[in-house]
Amino acid sequence: MFKDLVKKTRSIRRFDNRHKISDEIIYDIIDTARLTPSAANRQPVKFFISNNQELNDKIFPCIGWAGYLQDWVGPEPEERPSSYIVLFTEMQFAPHLNVDPGIIAQTIMLAAAEKDLGACMIASINKNKLKKIIKLPLEFEILLVIALGKPAETVVLEEVDETGSIKYWRDDKGIHHVPKRKLEDLIYKYKK
Ligand SMILES: Cc1cc2nc3c(=O)[nH]c(=O)nc-3n(C[C@H](O)[C@H](O)[C@H](O)COP(=O)(O)O)c2cc1C
Repeated sequence: MFKDLVKKTRSIRRFDNRHKISDEIIYDIIDTARLTPSAANRQPVKFFISNNQELNDKIFPCIGWAGYLQDWVGPEPEERPSSYIVLFTEMQFAPHLNVDPGIIAQTIMLAAAEKDLGACMIASINKNKLKKIIKLPLEFEILLVIALGKPAETVVLEEVDETGSIKYWRDDKGIHHVPKRKLEDLIYKYKK
């Protein structure tokens, strides 16, 4: 069921770094994402792939992990992603993009999960630093980074409780909990 794939598609932040992903698999994931809707069919989102340890090590310090987990500095070297996909666009398009990158990013997340890979969208980026590292020409703007790898953590969904907190948290067994708002709290009903 499609809903099961969506449930499986969680933000993963700890990976098995020994597991390498082939370029073919990453190309196939992006090949799926490029088939999605795009405003005026402009298809302005482009992709940079980092799939080697040396470049990954340079990208890692440019991104921020799990802001709510304040006593966690991010994945240890052996837990780090095997690959990154950097979404970028031409500078002229950047201010007008809103939905396109999200569609692309979630499609990448779903395509990765379908292949039993884990991924995490990362918007907390030192863009100037990352641009230099991946040698992106000045006329382009970075939109998002997606970390990719074999999942090495368990993520569970739960309902937002009576405190109303939407902050994800990690329990003492290392399980990552993600509160989701209840359906009835999200749907506005028309009142006569
Ligand atoms: C646009 C966007 C930006 C995000 N940026 C970050 C980020 O910078 N760092 C991070 O660790 N997670 C990031 N996330 C992941 C969210 O924290 C995650 O989606 C949320 O906690 C819900 O968990 P779930 O994806 O498993 O449902 C981002 C997610 C989205 C959609």
